[in-house]
Amino acid sequence: MPVIERASIRRILDSRGNATIEVDLFAPVRVRVPAPSGASTGAHEAQAFPKGGADESVRIFKEELGPALKGRDVADQEGLDRWLREADGTPNFSRIGGNLATAISLANARAAAAAAGQPLYRFLGGRSAKKMPFPFGNVIGGGRHAVGGTTVQEYLVVSQGPTVAGNVFANARVHHLLKDALSKKFPGEPLGRGDEGAWVAKLGDEEALALLADTCRAAEKEVGFPVRPAMDLAASEFFRDGKYHYKDRALTPGEQVDFLVRLAKDHGVYAYEDPLDEEDFEGFAALTKAIGKKVVIIGDDIYCTNAERLRKGISGGSGNAILIKPNQIGTLTETRATVETARKAGWATVVSHRSGETTDDTIAHLAVAFGSLGIKTGTVGGERTAKLNELIRIEEELHEGT
Ligand code: PGA
Ligand code: ZN
Repeated sequence: MPVIERASIRRILDSRGNATIEVDLFAPVRVRVPAPSGASTGAHEAQAFPKGGADESVRIFKEELGPALKGRDVADQEGLDRWLREADGTPNFSRIGGNLATAISLANARAAAAAAGQPLYRFLGGRSAKKMPFPFGNVIGGGRHAVGGTTVQEYLVVSQGPTVAGNVFANARVHHLLKDALSKKFPGEPLGRGDEGAWVAKLGDEEALALLADTCRAAEKEVGFPVRPAMDLAASEFFRDGKYHYKDRALTPGEQVDFLVRLAKDHGVYAYEDPLDEEDFEGFAALTKAIGKKVVIIGDDIYCTNAERLRKGISGGSGNAILIKPNQIGTLTETRATVETARKAGWATVVSHRSGETTDDTIAHLAVAFGSLGIKTGTVGGERTAKLNELIRIEEELHEGT
């Protein structure tokens, strides 16, 4: 395979208006991969940028990593990823920045796929990459992604029809229907959107879920296939002094599990992400034991795409699915190892965007390559639809058998 002839980097805007970085590799064809950033980050994830921010990652790339990339064979993904770890020298990429590592690592995969003349999903997933993920679309939000919204970070819609194109449009339909429902419920009041394009309104947490469940049922009737509600609680964000602090109540971990079991029954919840604090492996296990046969229990902040933490979760039954965010761990090789660990244990994977995104569509390819159950990448907004529209294109390609 070709070698990297040249590498460059620039500081660009993410969708929240913060600085992030984007890496170009020339091998000899140019590929380009930017990196996104989170707001509700897990304690155990890679540090997105070093002290000094995106500027420091740019400096390190220009002076050190960029020149050293020259001459590397793009076929050697694992070697590159090991070298990134060594060049950083810290456990969490705090010297060079997890975003810099992720952008270089994924750009190399893009370069190798280009050299092989294949789309990325096929290059990484082989012939078996043909299952399309269900899109998980954030439609009502709060937490760290919005001011004045729900305590729970995300209320999601998961449409489960036969095609990804149908599901993407059904999710968007739910977003539209919610706009009408919320305008009716709060006449004359402004209606806002959070960082991921989800509606932000003065709703209680169960009220938001009930409204979403009703709207899902209405959409289901229109489209004729299952359209289900889900939640990313991002519970670590409102867990303090041993309790989960909602606007109207504070729950102990045991009460939180009971509350979520009841909500799942009353409103037909399809999936819970981060239903408990990121260190509460026992709480995750209790909830999974209670409803894990019917409900997808996804760990995001608890696992941080880290295979070692995931193994601990698997051995204790703390969930049945893991969220996959490449820049939580920093390299493609480690991301794949985590996906493989999940697969072997029979756990589902859901590949995810970050709240501060770019128009990059790499995660659409990863979700197909990994055979993931889902992809969480919003419902509307250009940086979200970039991924959704790429899934529609991939599906078309798969049908054409190219
Ligand atoms: P983040 O959150 O990108 O702001 O970290 C998304 C999520 O919690 O899934
Ligand atoms: Zn999350």
